[in-house]
Amino acid sequence: MAWSATVLTLFPDMFPGPLGLSLAGDALKRGAWSLDAYDIRTHGLGRHRAVDDTPAGGGAGMVIRADVLAAAIDAVAPEGDARPRLLMSPRGRPLNQSRVRELAAGPGAIIVCGRFEGVDERVIEGRRLEEVSIGDYVLSGGEIAALVTMDACVRLLPGVMGKDASGEDESFEGGLLEYPHYTRPREWEGRSIPDVLLSGDHGRVAKWRRAESERITRERRPDLLR
Ligand code: ADE
Repeated sequence: MAWSATVLTLFPDMFPGPLGLSLAGDALKRGAWSLDAYDIRTHGLGRHRAVDDTPAGGGAGMVIRADVLAAAIDAVAPEGDARPRLLMSPRGRPLNQSRVRELAAGPGAIIVCGRFEGVDERVIEGRRLEEVSIGDYVLSGGEIAALVTMDACVRLLPGVMGKDASGEDESFEGGLLEYPHYTRPREWEGRSIPDVLLSGDHGRVAKWRRAESERITRERRPDLLR
């Protein structure tokens, strides 16, 4: 079975969005993975198909109802569906390459996109949702975070990246940020390609790249070295 993502959202038209193009889009068309966007409002209540209500205890914004969201989750993830259930949320555990690798190695993911002020806490507990953040900033909803998460996973699926080794020494996979890249022309606006890269000495090139990776990581992300 191909890696399969089911996204629960109030904006199903946002999918596949950019994931219908380029690398992920080609893989999607080939059936290397699948994407279903499911409208939470299908389970909304009453004539207006309401999915949210005012927060208990007062305050601004609206909260997605537990009963509505649970019904949507149960409709797409029957008993025995082994896929992890993610809830995209700025208060989640930060997504990193190690979690991405685990997700990509599994059967897929059920991804719930939050909107409004949040989701009733009881559905997070009752349906064992894993809250995931893509960074310390606030988006207007979880949809773009879901796209980011799926993009990171899909590019790791077998056959998606092609047979080059471009997945191997890129940023994070080795715990360091990537070294600088160059291509022709050899000289551009007075700037040259570092001599070592034109030396043909693969050992020296590898050493230089390693040193540059360490320098850039030390400057920009010292937290990665600890
Ligand atoms: N929804 C809103 N902001 C988010 C973030 N930073 N990560 C994941 N989901 C979000």
